[in-house]
This record gives sequence, structure tokens and C-alpha cells, in this order.
Amino acid sequence: MKAIYPGSFDPITLGHLDIIERGCRLFEQVIVAVLRNPNKTPLFTVQERLEQIRQSTQHLLNVEVDSFEGLTVNYAQMRQAQVLLRGLRALSDFEVELQMAHTNNTLSSEIETVFLATSNEYSFLSSSQVKEIARFGGCVAHLVPPHVAIEISRCHAKNHLK
Ligand code: PNS
Repeated sequence: MKAIYPGSFDPITLGHLDIIERGCRLFEQVIVAVLRNPNKTPLFTVQERLEQIRQSTQHLLNVEVDSFEGLTVNYAQMRQAQVLLRGLRALSDFEVELQMAHTNNTLSSEIETVFLATSNEYSFLSSSQVKEIARFGGCVAHLVPPHVAIEISRCHAKNHLK
């Protein structure tokens, strides 16, 4: 089975990477799909995020990194994937994720959402949190892959953090 792991990944965190690595053990192929969302002003461009994810997953043989726009289920159908993979952190994720899974199911009943419980150490980790810590000069080296931490601190040095 082929799984799509969709998200914003602005930036990829160790929590995302944990889900990708575990997804790779369950599925033949995991396609990490970055949403091109014109309504959001991200910290990193789609191209930068794709590159960050590629570098972070180069040790995994069955990962592909791509971007998409529009509905995730349409992209999944186009890629002939059967599964949408999502990580569940704390209880607060549950409502949003359940709603999204149900909505996606009404759009395409052939595609199943599979949730992986986030590993304990990443239960409360999010990209937004990483950006907030970095914006106030905190260290994020324990939360993101090393090259991403460097890019974040470069951004911070240039005073580009939003
Ligand atoms: O990393 P995120 O921001 O939590 O990911 C959310 C994402 C990209 C998976 C979700 O917003 C999405 O699938 N957007 C594409 C539009 C879509 O398919 N909407 C219907 C599901 S509610």
C-alpha cells in the first residue's frame, strides 16, 4: 500500500520525521506531500521545505517528497495511494483530525486515513511552537533536524522570522 503524508511542514520537525520513519515500516511507499497554500504566509517557501524534507529523509528508501495544491484526496487518487497518514499528538488534535478524516471520507470513500500516535517525546511538538521559540531566540536544535535548525537560525539572524 502507498500512503500520502500531507501537511504544511513549515518546517519539518522531529515529530514529523518520527511519523515518516514509522510510516515507512508500514507502507510500501510514503509520499510526503507539502500543501501549496496561497492563503498562508509561510516561514519557508515550498521549495525550501521540499529540500528540508528530502535532506531529512535521505536515509529512507521508500520515501518520496512532493508538493500539491487543492484537495488532498484528489492528489491521493492521482498518485494511486490508498492511505492518508496523519500523526495524532495530544487530545486537542483529535477533534480537528477526526473532522478532516470524515470530510475526506465523504469526498472519497476508497481512501482511508490512518493515524499514528506520536511518540511521547514529540506529543506536544508543532511547527508553530518551533517558530515561536526561534523568534524569541530560543534553541530549537532538539526539535528539528540539524540542517533545519541551522536554516532557522539563519532566518532569525536575518530578522526574517514572522
Ligand atoms: O500540517 P497541517 O497544516 O496540519 O496539514 C493540514 C493539511 C494540509 C493536511 C490539510 O489542511 C489539507 O489536507 N488541506 C488540503 C485541502 C483539503 O483537502 N481539505 C479537505 C480536508 S478538511
